[in-house]
Amino acid sequence: MREGTAPLIRREDYTAPAFWIRSVDLCFDLDPAKTLVINRMQLERNVDVPAQPLKLHGEDLSLTRVLVNGESVSFRHDDGMLVIDSLQGVPPGPFTLEIRNTCAPEKNTHLSGLYTSGGGFFTQCEAEGFRRVTYFLDRPDVMAVYTVTLRANKQAYPVLLSNGNLVEQGELDNGRHFAKWHDPFPKPSYLFALVAADLVAREQWVTTRSGKNHLLQVYVRRGDLDKTEHAMNSLIASVVWDEARFKLPLDLERFMIVAVGDFNMGAMENKGLNIFNTKYVLANPATATDADYLGIESVVGHEYFHNWTGNRITCRDWFQLSLKEGLTVFRDQEFSMDMAGSASARAVKRIDDVRTLRLSQFPEDAGPMAHPVRPDSYVEINNFYTATVYDKGAEVVRMMQALVGRDGFARGMTLYFERHDGRAVTCDDFAQAIADANPHSELAPRLGQFKRWYSQAGTPKVSARGRYDAPTRTYTLLLEQSCAPTPGQADKQPYVIPMAMGLIGRDGRSLPLQLEDEPMPPSGSFPLDRVLVLSEAREFFTFVNVDEEPVPSLLRGFSAPVTLADGLTDADLLLLLQHDTDPFNRWEAGQRLALARLLAAVRGGVELALDAPFIDAMRAVLRHPTLDASFKELVLIPPSEIYVSEQLESVDPQRVHSAREAMRLQLAQALRDDWAAAFEASQVHGGYSPDPVSVGKRGLANLALGMLCMDSMARGDTVWPGRAYQRFKDAGNMTERQGALLALVGAHSELAEPALARFYELFKNEPLVIDKWFSIQATAPESNGRVLAKVKSLMSHPDFTLKNPNRARSLIAALCMNNPAAFHRADAAGYVFWADRVLELDPTNPQLAARLARVMDRWSRLADPYRSAAREAVSRVAAKPDLSNDVREIVTRALSDA
Ligand code: PHE
Ligand code: ZN
Repeated sequence: MREGTAPLIRREDYTAPAFWIRSVDLCFDLDPAKTLVINRMQLERNVDVPAQPLKLHGEDLSLTRVLVNGESVSFRHDDGMLVIDSLQGVPPGPFTLEIRNTCAPEKNTHLSGLYTSGGGFFTQCEAEGFRRVTYFLDRPDVMAVYTVTLRANKQAYPVLLSNGNLVEQGELDNGRHFAKWHDPFPKPSYLFALVAADLVAREQWVTTRSGKNHLLQVYVRRGDLDKTEHAMNSLIASVVWDEARFKLPLDLERFMIVAVGDFNMGAMENKGLNIFNTKYVLANPATATDADYLGIESVVGHEYFHNWTGNRITCRDWFQLSLKEGLTVFRDQEFSMDMAGSASARAVKRIDDVRTLRLSQFPEDAGPMAHPVRPDSYVEINNFYTATVYDKGAEVVRMMQALVGRDGFARGMTLYFERHDGRAVTCDDFAQAIADANPHSELAPRLGQFKRWYSQAGTPKVSARGRYDAPTRTYTLLLEQSCAPTPGQADKQPYVIPMAMGLIGRDGRSLPLQLEDEPMPPSGSFPLDRVLVLSEAREFFTFVNVDEEPVPSLLRGFSAPVTLADGLTDADLLLLLQHDTDPFNRWEAGQRLALARLLAAVRGGVELALDAPFIDAMRAVLRHPTLDASFKELVLIPPSEIYVSEQLESVDPQRVHSAREAMRLQLAQALRDDWAAAFEASQVHGGYSPDPVSVGKRGLANLALGMLCMDSMARGDTVWPGRAYQRFKDAGNMTERQGALLALVGAHSELAEPALARFYELFKNEPLVIDKWFSIQATAPESNGRVLAKVKSLMSHPDFTLKNPNRARSLIAALCMNNPAAFHRADAAGYVFWADRVLELDPTNPQLAARLARVMDRWSRLADPYRSAAREAVSRVAAKPDLSNDVREIVTRALSDA
């Protein structure tokens, strides 16, 4: 048992429920102050487990009555549960339980359960929010058929929605009306949803391959309809894609998306009634950036794909969360790649995903919150909606696809649905289906070992050494793997690591890959690209008929979530940057060249001074006649401060920041004319479209403009800041407008202030744009400690509130997570600010507070004086007696990492 009151929940303690709930009839009388819920359930005792009393979850509810088969029964409250002892050992077969309770939606600041936002009612039930609506067996392996009646004032809440199909609606007395919904699919309570609000919808009918018609709807507040086109297009594309790629059709007559302004996460896949953070729905060219458009496409896809992976087949228990999340992230990544089209645009998406993984999951896996993709224990499940469960989980699925092939993976998915449709299952069930559908694959014989990816935490490290033997014309690659201890796991067993690779000759040609004793394949030539499977701690792979000493290109496409130490020299990396046929490794070579220079400067405590070969290589990329703009942009952005810091044993964030800023300035100066040329060449004319080519050009133009402004300011020249200001004023879309604003802010131009003021005036009625306005100021480059002071003063801006999660994140999380130089101050003021905000947020919204608390995960890696000041701040939070379980779990774990 841990400190505090909340017990540790363990995976090994799983037992099936003592009762099943087969159907639920819910009736809501919606009122912000006091909503009445009548909950009539059909239950059955689970005869497979020993007879026990019925224990129902319930949280922040007032209970008014309990009837079993129409008769009142005695009950008690125990350990936060409603217990009915008389049901112990009821005869097998169905009985009814009717519960009446009330709750107070307008007082629900946790945004879990039933709450109000912008004058409407919304629910959020994952993971354990349904117990804040009514008493229930609130666990994902209890699946029931829901019928829901909503009653509310018609004028205030003209739209009444729940899961499934609308079966009845009509008028009631006193200006009220009702709607009755029925969802034919049995579902766990976490997928329940209701909405009652004054909304309007964009609608679209689609026909699926079977010839059935389906109604798609995107509901938003009045006035936002002009920002729903992209979400609707993304939804249509998702429906088409899932049917084409995985033969998974839309199984509902009606599929609804509802946008809400107050939401803790990105979006929620409630059956047939997805509820979204407005950030992932609303977009028009004037208010949303290219990144926002891409985010909407991927989140709309993600939630839609959950309809099969998550809803049709769900999780047996919350330890299996990655069963739905890892798989669905993998699916949304594949969707976005397929939507991107060209090989280069696909690679850009892959690079973005890997950057995200390295930025959030790698640090998580190396810190106090490290946990397996399928965790073994938790205190608060909300803390385990993590980069590991989502993004590393997706990489695990991706590796399976690499081991069984794309078609084999599709076959595995088909078998998975044949076996488990309509059930609540485990990660083992999924992996077994993929392997069983591919008995002759690389996966099947090693499935047990492969599943260590689910059970062992930590990022494995692969070391590679190559040796060329000229007389025998052989090249031998030694691959070794290891994985550092993580909390509770001292020793790790070897993983199954798919290592996509190629060999490159000195002239840049890809060499044929013939392993020792390997016969000529039927195609008549050896491949130029292949996947080695590393499964021992140490393995040799010998290639024959190799004409010259090659440069190995390993871990192509980032084929496994590992770190790679291959000992390549600058010359090798320059060759890969120029010639690798794998775009991921080409990008990676550039990043590694930059990283080596940053690390040398930081470790040596010396000023960074870029060398000619590096600058020439970057210039060659920038000037390249055929490379895409978005790829150039990615190569020319140096590794992030967080990624650089993760490579260091002891981190001085200020030094990391200075080194990276020096690199940016020197690139700005050394490539001045090339930036100007790239800027001119990357102009997009005509109407706005978020296609990959235009997105790439706008991205490169924005980067170039930032560089040109930085260089101008350093020279005391005002031409480029002037042009940036002009572009800011004239911009036809938010991507260019924000890009120009960021260029001014980033260069400390005196035009930044007037631009910010103008930006506010233009968009003061657009909450999502005002979030950007706060963020831009919170992530402004540090100068003399002014950013923190600015953020503090912005907290009293009339538009600021901690109650809205997007707004809170836009200022507080933006500073603490995305502005290391402003946050990690030698005077500890950033940490004090952090602790104050965590403590302030915790009573109202513990989930949000716990996310912010995780900023300090890596405190023990900091160099002094940061380290001791950070520990003090974490200790101060931990010392508060009535902390939520959410925050307590995070800070307790952090402090154990000394
Ligand atoms: N299940 C949601 C998703 O991944 C995320 C979520 C979790 C939303 C918990 C709200 C609460 O799409
Ligand atoms: Zn999800």
